[in-house]
Amino acid sequence: MTGRFDNQCALVTGAAGGIGQAIVSRLRSEGARVAVADVQTSGIECEAELPGDLTDKYYCDQLCPSAFNALGGLDIVVNNAGVITRGAVTVTTDDDFALSLSVNVEAPFRISRAAIPIMAKRGGGKIVNTSSCWGVRPGPDHAVYCMTKAALASLTQCMGRDHAHQNICVNAVCPNEVDTPMIRTGFEIRGLDPDTAIADLNATVPLGRIAQPEDIADVICFLASDDARYLCGALIEVNGGKPVS
Ligand SMILES: NC(=O)c1ccc[n+]([C@@H]2O[C@H](COP(=O)([O-])OP(=O)(O)OC[C@H]3O[C@@H](n4cnc5c(N)ncnc54)[C@H](O)[C@@H]3O)[C@@H](O)[C@H]2O)c1
Repeated sequence: MTGRFDNQCALVTGAAGGIGQAIVSRLRSEGARVAVADVQTSGIECEAELPGDLTDKYYCDQLCPSAFNALGGLDIVVNNAGVITRGAVTVTTDDDFALSLSVNVEAPFRISRAAIPIMAKRGGGKIVNTSSCWGVRPGPDHAVYCMTKAALASLTQCMGRDHAHQNICVNAVCPNEVDTPMIRTGFEIRGLDPDTAIADLNATVPLGRIAQPEDIADVICFLASDDARYLCGALIEVNGGKPVS
């Protein structure tokens, strides 16, 4: 059987997370060879493990060349890793600010900067960034997180425009709430039972439930595929009909 990603090589960051695991599994099930990047990568089924810390500039700069060498090519990069810092600016520490900028903005910048010449030389490629609905419109009480996701959305639009002539399509997915460790640990930190809190959230979504990781991974895989060949700099909101309020 032929798959959409036969003979394609992909790098996925945040590959051990909720959405990341779903992306890796879907890309591989459709034929891609996948290099996975995360703090811990053991146990993820893949063609190459590239563990490391995205706050390390050198690690970010080397990820694309390492993936290229390990896989024998690089056609798709998914900048999916992210951290969420909660609170208004008045409660945001210097460390939170630096970490958010580093993982959510600087890492995708460095990784994309390295990917683009590699892809251009091969005749093109796809870069997909995981932004957020909260990067397109401000969500409550997460000022710095929203700012970083807005920066990533803007970077996506700029790169989408600047590199279309090299047949490199850069787009972003912007999810609303997704049932992953990111959202569940947030509830735990606030002393809430995650299952109850998610049931409450489900009731706020017109489609009747918050997203599962696969709902987002499927859109990311569409953006990584030839089906999205004419999309450049798009920000695709995937929200089950729920606006940011
Ligand atoms: N879950 C949601 O509701 C939601 C909504 C909108 C956008 N997003 C975005 O989706 C993406 C994936 O998040 P998720 O929900 O799967 O969360 P997750 O916490 O399950 O996964 C995030 C992954 O990023 C990795 N990561 C974080 N910091 C890192 C670092 N310094 N170095 C290397 N890896 C690092 C983590 O180890 C983790 O595996 C993120 O960019 C997030 O901001 C999530």
